[in-house]
Amino acid sequence: MSEILNTRDSFGSKFGVIAATAGSAIGLGNIWRFPYVVGENGGGAFLIIYLAFVLAIGLPVMLSEFIIGRSSQRNAFGAFKVLAPGKPWYLVGVMGVVAAFMILSFYTAVAGWTLEYIYQSFANGFAGKSSAELSSMFTDFRSESWRPLLWFFVFMAMTALVIIAGVKNGIEKYTKILMPVLLVILVVLCIRSVTLEGATGGLEFLFKPDFSKITARTVLEALGQAFFSLSIGMGTLITYSSYVSKKETLGSISFSVAVADTMIAILAGVAIFPAVFAFGIEPGSGEGLVYITLPNIFQQMAGGYVFSLLFFLLLGVAALTSTISVLEVIVAYFVEELKLSRKKATWLATGSVSVVGIMCTLSWGAMKNVELFGMNVFSLLDFISANILLPLGGLLIVVFVGWFLGRNKAKAELSNEGRLKVVYFPAFMMIVKFIAPIAIALVFLQQIGLIRL
Ligand code: PHE
Repeated sequence: MSEILNTRDSFGSKFGVIAATAGSAIGLGNIWRFPYVVGENGGGAFLIIYLAFVLAIGLPVMLSEFIIGRSSQRNAFGAFKVLAPGKPWYLVGVMGVVAAFMILSFYTAVAGWTLEYIYQSFANGFAGKSSAELSSMFTDFRSESWRPLLWFFVFMAMTALVIIAGVKNGIEKYTKILMPVLLVILVVLCIRSVTLEGATGGLEFLFKPDFSKITARTVLEALGQAFFSLSIGMGTLITYSSYVSKKETLGSISFSVAVADTMIAILAGVAIFPAVFAFGIEPGSGEGLVYITLPNIFQQMAGGYVFSLLFFLLLGVAALTSTISVLEVIVAYFVEELKLSRKKATWLATGSVSVVGIMCTLSWGAMKNVELFGMNVFSLLDFISANILLPLGGLLIVVFVGWFLGRNKAKAELSNEGRLKVVYFPAFMMIVKFIAPIAIALVFLQQIGLIRL
C-alpha cells in the first residue's frame, strides 16, 4: 500500500474495509433506533420512504464521502482543506465533528443501557415478569440516575481504550465472526416473534403502508434515520475511507454496506413489531421500545436465557464498533489538525463528550425536568444531530462532489484512475448534482413550513 502515507494506518484487506464500515453502520441505529422511530411514525409508509432515501440519497452520499476521503487521505476536516484550499468547505468537517460530539454523547447512554441488560440477562432478571413489569423495569432503571451513569462511563471508557490501543484490526477480526452470529440470533428472534399469538398485527403495521400517517415531520425523520443508520453526513466515512487502499472498488463496498445495514434494520423490525402487538405494547413508546419488547420474547422461547445473554452481548459489540467510528472522527481531527498525540486527543475528546453525555444519561432521572422545545437533553441532541446536522452535512457533501470537485475527479476516484468501469456514474452525477440536494432542501423547507407539498 505504497500510495498511503506510511505514517497513517490503513486497512489490510477489502474485507477489513467492509467489516469496519459495516461495523460503523450496523449498531444501535438499526436495532434500537430504527424500530422505535418506525413505531413513532406509523409503520409501513415510513418504511417505504426510508428505503427510498437509503437508495436514492444515502448510497450517493456514502460514495461521495468515499471519494472525498480516499482522494485526500485526511480526516473529515483536513480532507476539505486539501481538496479546496483557501475555501470555507472545511466548515463541513467542523460540522461533522460537532455532530460526532452530539451523537457520541447520547449513543453511549443507550449503549450503557445494553450493558445493564447484559447484566440483567446474566442474573436472569427478566424471569417470571409480566409485560407490564418488564416495562417498568426499564423505566425504573432509566430514572435511577446512578446506574445508567455507571454504565455510561464503562462504555465510554471501553470506546476510548479501543481507540488508544489501536486494536481496531483486532476488533475487525472478532466482528467478522460476531456480526454473523448477531444476524443468526436476529433471524431466530424473528421466527419466534412472528409465531407469537397476535403477531400479524405487527407485520401489518410494518409492511402495510398507510400514507395518511405521513407528515412533514415523518419525512424528515425517515431522512434522518437513513443518514444515521448508514453513518453518513458527518465524515465518519470520509475518515474511514482515508485509510482505504487505492485498489478497492468504492462502488461495491458502499453497496454491500448499505444492503447489510438495511437488512439488519428490517430484521430488527420483524423481530420487534409482531411481539409489540402480541404483548400489547404501544408501538410509539419511544426509546425504550426494544429494551421493553425483547425480554418478553426471550421469556417465551426455549433457551431464552442463553439467547438473551448472547443477544445483548452482541448488541454491545455492535454498538462498540459504531462508537469507535464516531470517536475516530473527533480523534483524527484533534491528531491531524491540533497535532495532539493520539492518547491525549482521545482523553480530551472522551472527557468533553462525557460532560454532555452525563446530561443525556440523566434525561429521565435527575435532569428530567430540563427541557428545550419540549424535548429533554437526550432527545434534543438526537433530533438535532440525526435529523438536521447529518442531512445538512450530506447536502453539502454531495454539492461539494457534484459542483466543486467535479466530474473528472469523481470519476477518476470511483474508477480507480480509469481501471474500473463505473456504469452507474451518469446516474450518480445526476443525483449528487441535482436530485439529492433538491430533495434534502425540500424536506427541510417543508419541515420549517416554508413550502407545502
Ligand atoms: N450508524 C450507526 C448505527 O446505526 C450510528 C452512527 C451514526 C455511527 C453516525 C457513525 C456516525 O448504530
